[in-house]
Amino acid sequence: MNKEEAQKRMEKLRKEILQRNYEYFVLDQSKIPEAARDSLKRELIELENQFPDLITPDSPTQRVGSALSGKFAKIKHKSKKWSLADVFSVEELVDWEERVLKTVKNAEFVTELKLDGLNITLHYKNGVLKKALTRGNGTEGEDVTHSIRTIKNIPLRLFKEVDIEVSGEVILSKESFSKMEGFANPRNAAAGTVRQLDPAVSAERNLEMYCYSLGEHNLKDAPKTHTKTLELLRDLGLPVNSEYAVHKSTAASINYLEKWQKNREALPYEIDGIVFKVNDKSQQEELGYTAKSPRHSIAYKFPAEQTTTILEDITIQIGRTGAATPVAELKPVLVAGSTVSRATLHNEDEITRKDVRIGDTVIIQKAGDVIPEVVEVLKNLRPSSSTPYEFPKNCPLCDTKLIRTEGEAAHRCPNKECPGRKRESFIHFVSRGALDIDSLGEKVVDQLIEYGFVHDVADFFTLHKEQLLELPLFKEKRAENVIEAIDARKEVEMSRFIFGLGIRFVGEQAAKLLVEHLHEKSESQHPTPVVVLDLLESSTQESLESIEGFGERIAESLVNWIQNDQHKALLRKLTDVGLKLKWPPKKQNIAGLADKTFVITGTLSKPRPEFKKIIENAGGKVSSSVSAKTDYLLAGENAGSKHDKAVSLGVEILNEASFNALQH
Ligand code: IVH
Repeated sequence: MNKEEAQKRMEKLRKEILQRNYEYFVLDQSKIPEAARDSLKRELIELENQFPDLITPDSPTQRVGSALSGKFAKIKHKSKKWSLADVFSVEELVDWEERVLKTVKNAEFVTELKLDGLNITLHYKNGVLKKALTRGNGTEGEDVTHSIRTIKNIPLRLFKEVDIEVSGEVILSKESFSKMEGFANPRNAAAGTVRQLDPAVSAERNLEMYCYSLGEHNLKDAPKTHTKTLELLRDLGLPVNSEYAVHKSTAASINYLEKWQKNREALPYEIDGIVFKVNDKSQQEELGYTAKSPRHSIAYKFPAEQTTTILEDITIQIGRTGAATPVAELKPVLVAGSTVSRATLHNEDEITRKDVRIGDTVIIQKAGDVIPEVVEVLKNLRPSSSTPYEFPKNCPLCDTKLIRTEGEAAHRCPNKECPGRKRESFIHFVSRGALDIDSLGEKVVDQLIEYGFVHDVADFFTLHKEQLLELPLFKEKRAENVIEAIDARKEVEMSRFIFGLGIRFVGEQAAKLLVEHLHEKSESQHPTPVVVLDLLESSTQESLESIEGFGERIAESLVNWIQNDQHKALLRKLTDVGLKLKWPPKKQNIAGLADKTFVITGTLSKPRPEFKKIIENAGGKVSSSVSAKTDYLLAGENAGSKHDKAVSLGVEILNEASFNALQH
């Protein structure tokens, strides 16, 4: 190949790789295999080796340059870089909206994830990446081009030869962060990586960028709204986070906010809030700026999830299987939007490892709905009189000697009659996944025990109104409601009942599998707890082990459980008090659905669990997230990111009509 031919070929290869990288890194939908992309790149590298003077700085081979010898150059921003004002509550958010609506009428709002990384501004000239600057003090930033160039989802060249300045957030995934040491959070780790002098190090750490604003530019048609801006950036080849949404009022966007506050754990990167922006650009300008920030946008910050408090005591909680869990009794403190006064300390080894002592100042953490935990002790703040914690020898509730089996972290109270174990087993029996008797909350159960009305779970079914009226705070109506709620559960799915018995290792899923197995063995049309007793008594350990999904552990636990006379007596008593059980509908494989994996999304004509039931009864499976293993996405109205994901993975998408058609 002569030089001229090589030049043409190289130009074509660069364009092709640019397009393929865009599909892969920005759109998340590769149209050619990764190996093919690599092979194109190799061909380009070979030509570049042959004709080094034809290498261009925007070539995809030129991401990693040589290390900087000294500090970063300080560069003045072309225009001031603003930051956002923060709000910490929905009330403050609504105040902001009211202020906005005083100036502009009928504003539309865009919500975006507030990515927890660092703000970077990119300068493209004639479509080629020239500079990347940190925000710095807003007027002057640091030139971090050499490390930003290594970020794979940032194009070195855009699809159009435009001059633009774009800003966005550079972030590090939770996964990459977990592999790094010495940084308090992914944000600091990302900042540390960007400020690496050696781009080879930056390149290894898998940073990503998401763009969210357009600065100076020479575009002919400037976008008139923020969402149009995002679309434009994406069309130029820049990565834009797809989780944004448009709302008519903040009231509507509060749902979005709550959704992400709850689901942030599921994201592969950290977010620390939600950003609200007025969509229309001319309205944005009308609103203007304060000294530090634009009035058209605001950051709603999620409540802090870690805080410090004093550990006042350590108590031991006995679970229904007897596990003795140490609990930190804390000076009440607000974390993640709720007051926390107790946190788990897991087990003796954890207490020893962290050297947790009564009187310590501790860092506690609450993640979503998970039980709060003690993360760390601030030893410098420890009172001089403190002594190491000694795990109690005996159960604090029944004084039985606690045991700790070799190889297990937990201590256990072996006394089946332990009041702590009983209480927890009663609460479990009426809990959501078991009999689901909502009106029997923990407090009511405690009172029923205290007043001597309930000695075992069968006693719930013989409670009468007069008894309830004796309890504090119970009036006629409430007593009637509780009795009605219990009566309504006198016939329940057998799997709920078995789960409710709290047999060790038999969770909701195992209970379902067991019931399917028992159903095949049984002739009974109207099962009761005694039928369960008979069926289990006649099951051998081997036959239970043969249930798919069961192992020796579950089978052995079931066999032991049913051999206990007290348990047998309980099943008889439950039958005597009138508890009836239901078999699940018999599974009947339907060719179109059997062995297929579905994901359900969007608004359908019936609640999603009903579709789940149809699919499972026909021998199919339902999973919660779209992956390469998904066969179908059943999508209703307003299907969101799952729909996009399915499209990108080439998963077949069904509407209700085509779903129904599968069943025939
Ligand atoms: S818009 C006017 N959108 O939050 C400044 N910022 O506290 C333009 N951030 O400096 C910012 N996610 O580093 C915007 N979706 C998002 C964001 C976001 C994270 C950061 C950004 C900014 C800081 C403001």
